[in-house]
Amino acid sequence: MQKVEKFLPLSRPTISKETIDEVVKVLESGWLATGPLTQKFETELSKYFGDRNVACFTSATAGLHASLIAIGIKPGDEVITTPLTFVATANVIAMLGARPVFVDIERDTFNINVKKIEAACTEKTKAIMPVHYAGLPVDLDPLYEIAKRKNLRVIEDSAHAVGTSYKGRKIGTFGDIQVFSFHPIKNMTSGEGGCVVLDSENEMKTLGLQRFHGIDRSIWDRFSKNGSTYYDVVFPGFKSNMSDVQAAIGLHQLIEVEMMNERRRHFANRYREAFADMGDKLMMQGIPQYDFVHSGHLFPICIVDAKKRDDFMSFLKENSVGTTPYYTPLHLFSYYQKEFGFKKGDFPEAEYVGERIVCLPLYYSLQESDQDYIIEMVKKFFK
Ligand SMILES: Cc1ncc(COP(=O)(O)O)c(C=O)c1O
Repeated sequence: MQKVEKFLPLSRPTISKETIDEVVKVLESGWLATGPLTQKFETELSKYFGDRNVACFTSATAGLHASLIAIGIKPGDEVITTPLTFVATANVIAMLGARPVFVDIERDTFNINVKKIEAACTEKTKAIMPVHYAGLPVDLDPLYEIAKRKNLRVIEDSAHAVGTSYKGRKIGTFGDIQVFSFHPIKNMTSGEGGCVVLDSENEMKTLGLQRFHGIDRSIWDRFSKNGSTYYDVVFPGFKSNMSDVQAAIGLHQLIEVEMMNERRRHFANRYREAFADMGDKLMMQGIPQYDFVHSGHLFPICIVDAKKRDDFMSFLKENSVGTTPYYTPLHLFSYYQKEFGFKKGDFPEAEYVGERIVCLPLYYSLQESDQDYIIEMVKKFFK
């Protein structure tokens, strides 16, 4: 097969003509900040997530941070999470002066090992933050059983999980709090952005205040025809409100996300079939016993011979294929070692995977011929 001239990136958002038209309309409307379109996006997201409360933010990071504040996380508290995640998950815990307590992953699913959570709980533990890594749901029933018994809150970092289902229920339609990301690499995007899904009206109110300086009246309420420009500040919140420009993108992506996910899953299945007999060279994400739907966010593989991982990535790059080693386990970063005393060896399964993992291109607009080329390059490397 010919070397492809174009570069095949790890990911690429697909923005439809309808989306572009809607964004142009917003740009021409005279109202760009949080307003009617953000409200509409929240209403549509709420329908998608089983009529639960939804608050949009400028990012999932901001949504995770605000959620931790809303559930009352304070300095000295402990929050259990996985080391194999993007640093946002643990940074927001650390930012509040709380302690991220990592629990090792399962080598096959790359998700937090739920069986090890209970042993990590102390009297300081206040919450569990599982991550549905790559779009594969964590085994939530036993996790929620521990949370219930120990009176812990659960914030599911669902950045990878728009469209993921666990035992027939879509992530976001049940459970405690879920936070989704609409970063451009994700299954659906709003440029940058994210949302929090939850039931509590009180916590929803806190999130609303949190994202706009603790001001008790939304900017739309203040500047629209019947609004009042006066307001009170009830606590010092952040500035992480979504704009109507972002919401316009997100609204159309939400209509398209299930269809786009189907295609992502199609490509993921093609990779699985192509690599089925290469188990001695590369390991794919395991398939749990429970019923689930994968969102097809990432397609991670582990290069069995860890020493070959960097050469593998360089070889693919030289041949115009983008990859990334998502993720370096968080306890190996200098800040986490200095601040919390973590060290190499603490979470051997996360380290095993972290040294070997590579994500291959997976996105809606990938073509089968491009994927055939990627598969051929992967096989060529191992020949
Ligand atoms: C697991 C995980 N959590 C949180 C985030 C943060 O999302 P955002 O970029 O929307 O802040 C990401 C983003 O890549 C992520 O992958």
